[in-house]
Amino acid sequence: MKRLGVNIDHIATLRNARGELHPDPVFAAKFVKNSGADSITIHLREDRRHINDLDAKKICSIKNVLVNLEISTNSQIVKKAIQFKPDFICIVPENRKEITTEGGLNLNKNKNKLKKIINKLKKKKIRTSLFINPSLNDVKTSIELKTNCIEIHTGKLANLVKSKKKFNKELKRIKKCSIYASNNNLEVHAGHGLDYKTTRYLSRINEIEEFNIGHFLIGESIFEGLPKVIKRFRNIIKKK
Ligand code: PXP
Repeated sequence: MKRLGVNIDHIATLRNARGELHPDPVFAAKFVKNSGADSITIHLREDRRHINDLDAKKICSIKNVLVNLEISTNSQIVKKAIQFKPDFICIVPENRKEITTEGGLNLNKNKNKLKKIINKLKKKKIRTSLFINPSLNDVKTSIELKTNCIEIHTGKLANLVKSKKKFNKELKRIKKCSIYASNNNLEVHAGHGLDYKTTRYLSRINEIEEFNIGHFLIGESIFEGLPKVIKRFRNIIKKK
């Protein structure tokens, strides 16, 4: 059964716009779980532009809510993440000037650093994922690094679908990487830029076990409400 992870960073963005306490990401994490999400994703960025340390600490300690904490390879952030004891960690690239995570990790450049972090997290029994581009070389490196999971960056596919351009080549690339990873015992996740349409295409790839969806899902909830949007995504990922 495919799982749905909901990224609630944008609830913190809205709260921070006023510098007050509402809407509360901790309440949101419980609400999203009760609305049918399998896990909650939060990104503790180095610039703390949305989720802050206290949010992360509180959200990671909520009982019966599986938390996927996204972090960069920054040693201070890794240290904090381990203290917060999330269920899962996804390592992502981070660049101060970016609006959002623009691509997957540069695995070759960060191989040694990543290896050390993965070993550390494994010792703490935290499921570890690497956010990578849909490249067979990166899947091979991920296998070498002995991560538990990979999350494939779906931003390019999502952009092609949204702009009504040809997307079959990119979809095939994602499928090929997913099959190769799964055959080599890596759990495959997908995320970035996903709306209903792109998620529907990706849900046909059997090997993808988890979708992590944020911006569109939260944006659409302004009109439809979180429970309805979460239910719709659940139905999409359930179907083939
Ligand atoms: N997965 C990862 C690893 C991400 O970094 C992000 C963006 O923060 C997402 C999923 C969610 O992307 P979006 O907000 O575009 O749905």
